[in-house]
Amino acid sequence: MGNIKLYDSQALEGMRKAGKLAKAVLDYIEPYIQEGKTTNELNILCHNFIISNNAIPAPLNYNGFPKSICTSVNNVICHGIPCEYKLKSGDIINIDVTVNLSGWYGDTNRTFTVGKCTKLATTLIETTRKALDLGISAVKPFGYFGDIGKAIQKYIDKQGFSIVRDYCGHGIGNVFHGAPTVLHYDSGEQGEQILPGMFFTIEPMINAGSYKTKVLKDGWTAVTVDKSLSAQFEHTLAVTQDSVEILTL
Ligand code: MF3
Ligand code: CO
Ligand code: CO
Repeated sequence: MGNIKLYDSQALEGMRKAGKLAKAVLDYIEPYIQEGKTTNELNILCHNFIISNNAIPAPLNYNGFPKSICTSVNNVICHGIPCEYKLKSGDIINIDVTVNLSGWYGDTNRTFTVGKCTKLATTLIETTRKALDLGISAVKPFGYFGDIGKAIQKYIDKQGFSIVRDYCGHGIGNVFHGAPTVLHYDSGEQGEQILPGMFFTIEPMINAGSYKTKVLKDGWTAVTVDKSLSAQFEHTLAVTQDSVEILTL
């Protein structure tokens, strides 16, 4: 308890810039997400865009992660490593971008479709986007972190999809990952209080089948155990005295 950092208004200025750049990377890469592109080509484009904006791609060499963004295709939940895989029509792909700009971290991801996708894929993506929106709406200054997962689970239970439990949102700021752990499901606990000066992410991962996960032999790629599709959206948030700011909008 009480180990969540509270930042000042100068930090907020830095985080606004980092969040804005992370969002700009996703906007920049979107038109390149096409049939035939390899995930490593997307990685290189994002890498060059980030460094040309005087920032550092935070995943690169983070705990040994070998690339500058995460690319998670179809049944990959998160932390997919860019490689020579060529995107094909019907794939869904999550691009997760984290930039370090002057020491401040901006972290955001979206799931995109490639060519023509199934109804299931587009429904899963729209449902996941809505789950993030509902999670954000549950954030109130002086509310509780537990409210976020409660709101997401109330919605997802009705949709017949499942919420990944093994990966969570996180505190962020002048570190990539800090306290607290932000749950996307209802653990039955209210959790810590949400206070002005906090920065954190919400990043629900929603599976078409079981919530169960496993990590491939590369030590990073998290996949659904039942091979079902998985989608994710992420924003970085700042809490102020009377509101919540989405820094990556
Ligand atoms: N961006 C991811 C998150 O949302 C973390 C990626 S860590 C990496 O927290 F090492 F896989 F890049
Ligand atoms: Co994150
Ligand atoms: Co991220």
